[in-house]
Amino acid sequence: MDRRLVLAAALGLAAAAALPARAQEVAKIGLILPMTGPFASTGKQIEAAVKLFQARNGDTAGGRKVQVILKDDGGTADVTKRLAQELIVNDKVVAIAGFGLTPLALAAAPLATQAKVPAIVMAAATSTVTEASPFVVRTSFTLAQVTVPMAEWAARDGIRKVVTLVSDYGPGIDAEKAFTEVFTKAGGTVENLRVPLRNPDFSPFLQRAADAKPDAVFVFTPSGVGAQFMKQFVERGLDKGGIRLISTGDVVDDDILNDMGDAALGVVSTHHYSAAHDSAENKAFVEAFRKAAGFRPNFMAVGGWDGMQALYAGLDATKGQGGQALVDAIKGTTWTSPRGLLTIDGATRDVVQSVYVRKVERKDGELWNVEFGSSPAVKDPVKAAKAP
Ligand code: PHB
Repeated sequence: MDRRLVLAAALGLAAAAALPARAQEVAKIGLILPMTGPFASTGKQIEAAVKLFQARNGDTAGGRKVQVILKDDGGTADVTKRLAQELIVNDKVVAIAGFGLTPLALAAAPLATQAKVPAIVMAAATSTVTEASPFVVRTSFTLAQVTVPMAEWAARDGIRKVVTLVSDYGPGIDAEKAFTEVFTKAGGTVENLRVPLRNPDFSPFLQRAADAKPDAVFVFTPSGVGAQFMKQFVERGLDKGGIRLISTGDVVDDDILNDMGDAALGVVSTHHYSAAHDSAENKAFVEAFRKAAGFRPNFMAVGGWDGMQALYAGLDATKGQGGQALVDAIKGTTWTSPRGLLTIDGATRDVVQSVYVRKVERKDGELWNVEFGSSPAVKDPVKAAKAP
């Protein structure tokens, strides 16, 4: 062999030996999502976003190859917990991620604390989720964060009497509380109704809402359920009865909006993401996503995309280390997401972002949530109220 080659080979070996052992190991990320069951659309959206992120940004971060291991929890908390345990103990993942619903995130949080493994919450949106473990980082949103601007807009728009109709669990109760507090403070009156999360039948609740003769019904249902709600809203004739529909963006979710038809036209909602968001980053994201996945990205996809962004930024900063160092490195990071500017609050590990007011309009033959107002840098109001 040529002497120079021998020398180069020897130097290469020495360099490899000098690298810390972990740099040669794959950094595994355990992605736990509902890929089956009633919330499978959330899993499908986040999985597609994670794949797209790696296709566009490569599969290395902090000098390590990043391998995503996808597991299906079917939307059942016991399964989430078992899968998180297996990923931590057997696969030795640097982080767990995903968590399609609040109860699933809450089931995994104690394991993250125990094993000191970061848990990147890409979907679940009850305020308390980030308080369940110091290893939780959230890239989705909180219901209080998007609901306060809705209540403010409704009061400004002359709506005086509202019936709230929410799924009866963490995020729904957060939405109900935030709406009621802000709207009654602004002089409005509110009646609260809660619908079961599993197999919801909205009809009896819609009848009660109609009987109350409010100016508007404010609704929260988790992603994927809005189509059924809208169908029953129309069947009960509420759309023709002069009762306006206002909601969080979960109800008029980009994944199902197009199939809702004309009944959705004019619905005003507030949320942190619309596929119609007018920015260069979002246009590129939506185009690439549709091409790769074959469907429109919704806010769950953006939560997944930004979860990967947080993980890659953290791994780059720690040169591939996990654990406490990885959580600390993610705290305070800021980047431009398809949704706009996003920051991970250094103190709470929760997401700070713009919240937009949108209206459903038809454009180029498709229904879109067209943004017409925004509040910048909104923190989770529940935690902001508790801050010293
Ligand atoms: C939640 O369970 O935290 C959750 C799920 C879907 C949503 C919002 C919140 O659209």
